[in-house]
Amino acid sequence: MSVDLSSRYLGLSLCSPIIASASPLTRYVGAIRQFADAGAGAVVLPSLFEEQIEEDARLLEQLISIGSDSSPEVTSYFPSAARYNTGPGGYLDLIARARAAVKIPIIASLNGTTKTGWIEYARQIEQAGASALELNIYQIMSDPGVTGAIADAAYIGLVKAVRAAVKIPIAVKLHPYFSAFGSLARELDQAGADGLVLFNRLYQPDIDLVRLGWKNDALLSGKGEIRLGLLWLSLLSGRLPHASLGAGTGVETADEIIKYILAGADVVMTTSALLRGGAAHLNMMLRELERWLAARGFKSVDEIKGLLRREDQGHEARIRGDYITTLLDYRVPGHSAPKTAI
Ligand SMILES: Cc1cc2nc3c(=O)[nH]c(=O)nc-3n(C[C@H](O)[C@H](O)[C@H](O)COP(=O)(O)O)c2cc1C
Repeated sequence: MSVDLSSRYLGLSLCSPIIASASPLTRYVGAIRQFADAGAGAVVLPSLFEEQIEEDARLLEQLISIGSDSSPEVTSYFPSAARYNTGPGGYLDLIARARAAVKIPIIASLNGTTKTGWIEYARQIEQAGASALELNIYQIMSDPGVTGAIADAAYIGLVKAVRAAVKIPIAVKLHPYFSAFGSLARELDQAGADGLVLFNRLYQPDIDLVRLGWKNDALLSGKGEIRLGLLWLSLLSGRLPHASLGAGTGVETADEIIKYILAGADVVMTTSALLRGGAAHLNMMLRELERWLAARGFKSVDEIKGLLRREDQGHEARIRGDYITTLLDYRVPGHSAPKTAI
């Protein structure tokens, strides 16, 4: 029996629900082609960071001024930094090359710092031909004076500004640390986000006890990390009028992909698993998803989408009940169950 693996995300038709999310791999057109051949529904490019562009321009200015210091007349040999291709040129070129190389959608990713930067680079990304734009918003609200309402407003304002600047679909990649996630999700939907990605993995440094300093390393994820995303996808699925939902973290095997879709994800994104196993692993997960669906008589991914969502009346009481039962049912090895409530 043939199974329809197609899915819709950000208003785009995808041949499969698995997306290769932003990573050092998606910087290479060769790897993008392999993901497309393996059955990825789309690819997200690594983020264009506003600081990166500024730093390139600064370094070039420095280089020019070193040259001119050594001999005054040399100044005339150097055009100003503005005339060099120090802007996001390389990134825009990657978008164009990736679009030309594959038929699947190419989603660009932007991580800005200033409102002007977000808007200007979003426009350039659209002009370069990106199928959609993912906003990788990374703002650490550590100032105790910044309230949850201020933090939410910053995200919503940004989405409105980018929405007004471009016509291509936009997705917002979110971390889970908001005081009322459901309300934020709805407001982002109203602000014009075409999709939300749950969840981004934030920078979580370790401490090196030998060096007595911070340790910055990119830890790959494991399947234990899907649970928060599962819960929130199941709570938001079917409740946003416009935005589609992407699952973002912790895929190791097809099992995590199936669970995310059952909870309500339209697409499932994966980075760590692809850094470990490459395009062959993506293809294996897709084939396992297909087998799983066929073995249970499902004809399409759509048939299981949101099957286990929790939008029904009373779900909050039920989740609270599940929470209490989970804690009370925990058995400490070597101790029998208590007979009465504590
Ligand atoms: C080495 C590395 C580089 C990444 N670069 C980006 C990036 O440029 N932009 C972005 O939005 N996310 C980036 N991510 C985050 C991934 O896109 C993804 O959201 C995260 O790793 C969670 O997915 P996973 O559990 O499948 O790894 C990066 C992750 C890793 C491990």
